[in-house]
Amino acid sequence: RTCNKCELVISAPDRESWPDTTLPEVVLAGRSNVGKSSFINTITNRKKLAYVGNTPGKTRLLNFFNIDDELMFVDVPGYGYANISKKQLMQFGDMMEDYFANREQKVGLVLIVDSRHKPTEDDVTMIEFARYHQMNTIVIATKFDKLKKNERKKNLLKISEVLELPVESIIPFSSETRLGVDAAWKKIESLY
Ligand code: GTP
Ligand code: MG
Repeated sequence: RTCNKCELVISAPDRESWPDTTLPEVVLAGRSNVGKSSFINTITNRKKLAYVGNTPGKTRLLNFFNIDDELMFVDVPGYGYANISKKQLMQFGDMMEDYFANREQKVGLVLIVDSRHKPTEDDVTMIEFARYHQMNTIVIATKFDKLKKNERKKNLLKISEVLELPVESIIPFSSETRLGVDAAWKKIESLY
């Protein structure tokens, strides 16, 4: 898939700045530094669409990306970042709650997890949050390029066990090798 018109529409600090469109919106969530922004860049085939940083917790606001006037990706701040203040954590919670509770056109959640690690409590909470708001969830196990051969199946099974989802529904992904790009698009397109 080639992205003809992919652009950051707005980095929104609050509800007043959410874009005024009716495009279906797919939310990207996951732990801080897990590879959410890289995922957006990889599947749109645009190296610098979303900001990728080595400093965890760089994405602070809700970033709305228009994908060919067909859908929006909403890149949200990563959670579980240790160096965040209580106040920032509260603001993050309010911003997400406001979005999930009030944004009509949200169609699904793409939860990005690190394929090397067991999903965290926060990942489980995020899935439950999406279920509560009747959103379908896609799970992407990223950084798959970092796994040794004998870890691949084992780690996918672990992720499926912790998130209580069938292992077939978890997509192995790598922003380095582009593994999983087609599978991810297929699932995303089934959301809307
Ligand atoms: P925040 O917005 O800060 O929460 O981070 P993020 O989840 O958007 O992560 P980001 O895409 O900025 O990537 C974090 C780091 O992981 C960067 O150094 C990326 O180059 C690296 N990274 C992301 N995806 C992959 C992957 O599939 N494989 C490898 N090897 N590295 C990756
Ligand atoms: Mg990011």
